[in-house]
Order: sequence, then structure tokens, then C-alpha cells
Amino acid sequence: MNPASPAQKTSQPQRTPLFEVRKVSKHFGGLIAVHNMSLSIYPGTIAGLIGPNGAGKTTFFNLMSGLYTPDGGEFLFKGDVFSPKAPEEVAKMGIARTFQNIRLFSSMTALENIMVGCHCRYRHGVLGAIFKTRSHRQEEHSIREKSRALLDYVGIARYADELAGHLSYGDQRRLEIARALATQPDLLALDEPAAGMNATEKLRLKELLLQMRTDGKTILLIEHDVKLVMGICDHVTVLDYGKVIEEGSPKKVQQSPAVIEAYLGGLHHA
Ligand SMILES: Nc1ncnc2c1ncn2[C@@H]1O[C@H](COP(=O)(O)OP(=O)(O)O)[C@@H](O)[C@H]1O
Ligand SMILES: [Mg+2]
Repeated sequence: MNPASPAQKTSQPQRTPLFEVRKVSKHFGGLIAVHNMSLSIYPGTIAGLIGPNGAGKTTFFNLMSGLYTPDGGEFLFKGDVFSPKAPEEVAKMGIARTFQNIRLFSSMTALENIMVGCHCRYRHGVLGAIFKTRSHRQEEHSIREKSRALLDYVGIARYADELAGHLSYGDQRRLEIARALATQPDLLALDEPAAGMNATEKLRLKELLLQMRTDGKTILLIEHDVKLVMGICDHVTVLDYGKVIEEGSPKKVQQSPAVIEAYLGGLHHA
């Protein structure tokens, strides 16, 4: 093992997982997209979820974020069982996600996209906005400042007033991450954040993910770029045809015959 590798620098995981999945399944008609899937994610770590195309990774994200209802199994967050029913509820609880296909409001500015994300943590609703109460104005100001700080954090402060749709692909991905951070999540789930990025953008993304871990975030990362995953993840889970076929340290997973077989097979069913 390379002692300089960032994945090895973190301290030992604490015993209680931040997020736990127990035997979760999802069928689409006769197709078993996720089958009896279990995993545990510990606070302050980066957990990787990998597997060939069609393995069930995005379906799993849709289950944990309340977009799909599981056919069986349970989720625990901070030790309590919860049923992810509506995406807004899941976000309020402290879990945020991004999407494999970017979902930004492309005709709003970068700053406005983040301000929308912030609103789930603020008190004043529609009435405050209509009547422009003093406390509403104060809150609006604080949301704006916080949103600027988040743009700065992900490295795109200079594009605050650009339309999101005009940003480069890599910057749109960073904007999505900033918007997810606006809900102040404890767990941030990213669905292929490096997809479509060039080598420089990937390197900057890697630095951002490591910075977020240093700052105390817990990250669940679905990613196709195996090099990126192996370079930063503390723990990796491998799915194939909806089943967990391997899990453990990046080193263990890389050497697993089942994983090598799945990826070679994956070339055929990709
Ligand atoms: N809404 C859906 N309806 C029917 N089948 C689906 C749906 N979503 C995903 N699937 C199927 O479930 C399997 C897993 O897909 P997905 O979770 O997108 O895989 P991955 O993200 O690992 O590439 C695939 O066979 C896919 O075609
Ligand atoms: Mg996917």
C-alpha cells in the first residue's frame, strides 16, 4: 500500500455508520435492478459504489433519495430507520444527491441555482416572499451571501451571474455539487460526477472531493473512472446485476477475481 495515498490518510472509521442499507431490493417487472443490497457508510469517509453499466447504481440512488419505493429492505440514517418517501424530506434529513444527467435550471444564473437549493433550510416561505417582510429580506440576504460562499468553495465564484447553461460541462458539475451542499447535507451522494470531464477537470474534482472530506462531509460516490475511485475512496462496494459482489478497501476490490470478471463481462453488456 502506498502510504502517501490520500485514501489511507483518514483515521479509522467510527463504529456507528452514518448511513446503513439493509437488504434493499427493487424490481422493474421481471428485472431485478437491485437485489438484497446492504452497505454501511461511516462518518467522514468517501465510499465508492462501482459496477458495470446497468448494475443498479443509479436505481440505488433513486431508492435512497425517495424517487423510487423499494420492494424490500430498510435504510438507517444516524442510527434511525427511515423510509425515503419524498426527495425534499430526504434532503431535510441531511442527505443530498446529484444526478448522472445534469439537472440545473439552465436559464437561471449560477448563483440563483444555489439560492434555490438553500431554501429547504430556511424559515420564510411564500408569504414572506410576497409581502417582502423585513425578516424575509434579511433571510434573502443571508441566502445570497451563503450561496456566493458555496460558489467560491467549489471554485466557480467568478461565474455567479452567468446563466448555468452557459457554463462549461465541468463547471456545471461543480455547480450541481454546490447546490447539493446548499442543503447542508451530512451525506452527499454523487452520481458519476466526473462523467464527460477532461483530465484537468477530473483532477480538480478529485481535489474538491478530498477537501470536502477534510471539511467533515461524508460522501457516497458512484463513478465510472476506476482510477479516481481507487485513488480517493476509503471503502468500495461493487455491484453487478443488482448484487453486491465485493466490498472493502480499494486494494482488496481491485484484486478481487469476481470484480475483474464482472468488468470483463461488463465490456459485453455495456
Ligand atoms: N425506471 C426504470 N424502469 C425499468 N427499468 C429500469 C428503470 N431504471 C433502471 N432500470 C433498469 O435497471 C437496471 C439498472 O439500471 P441503473 O440503475 O441505471 O444502472 P447503473 O446506474 O448501474 O448503470 C438496468 O437494467 C436498467 O435498464
Ligand atoms: Mg447510472
